[in-house]
Amino acid sequence: MREMPSIAPIWTQMTPASTSGFRLLPGRLDLDAQQGLLDEVMARVAVAPFVRQVTPGGKPMSVAMTSFGALGWTTDLAGYRYERRHPATGAPWPDIPAALLDLWAELADPRTPPDACLVNFYNAEARMSLHQDRDEADFGFPVLSVSLGDTAVFRIGGTRRGDPTRSVRLASGDVCLLAGDARLIHHGVDRILPGSSRLIPGGGRINLTVRRAEPG
Ligand code: SIN
Ligand code: FE2
Repeated sequence: MREMPSIAPIWTQMTPASTSGFRLLPGRLDLDAQQGLLDEVMARVAVAPFVRQVTPGGKPMSVAMTSFGALGWTTDLAGYRYERRHPATGAPWPDIPAALLDLWAELADPRTPPDACLVNFYNAEARMSLHQDRDEADFGFPVLSVSLGDTAVFRIGGTRRGDPTRSVRLASGDVCLLAGDARLIHHGVDRILPGSSRLIPGGGRINLTVRRAEPG
């Protein structure tokens, strides 16, 4: 019997850089690269500390955040937006680590550099509800995500809120991209698996999402 031709799934794995969709690159960063990036992140967090921001509805987020790059994703009672300064220190955000600029050039866009990198810290209780990343000017640019530390149970759905969802584990060193027709899919973090990585002293997970917030 002839095999049916397979229909290209939206959830592709290990596909070429230009491919649209959700791309997961498991273990893209080896342990040395993870440690090197963590050191670069923590040096910047020393001057731009993690902050638990509030939603426009006034609810404190369980995830603590900071940013690197010209623009930092900010939420408070006035709404979601990108800001040029850290909400607590008033200082410009630290620069984006070179390893992330290189990954962006290789996997996301070789011509236009990213101008924002949201840094999320999840302790054992933190979660992030299902949402779309839509505060950026041009959804033609992907969102590139790098996970460090404890594994996340990540949930991905479709572009409409009621679309079916599925769960994907994001472990330390995994890189994923929301690109093309998956750029606006709903996604969130159901929970963290405490003790699943020894990378971050004291445990927890750091997720870095590299973005282009302003028009290219
Ligand atoms: C986010 O959507 O900002 C974070 C995703 C993640 O933590 O993996
Ligand atoms: Fe997001």
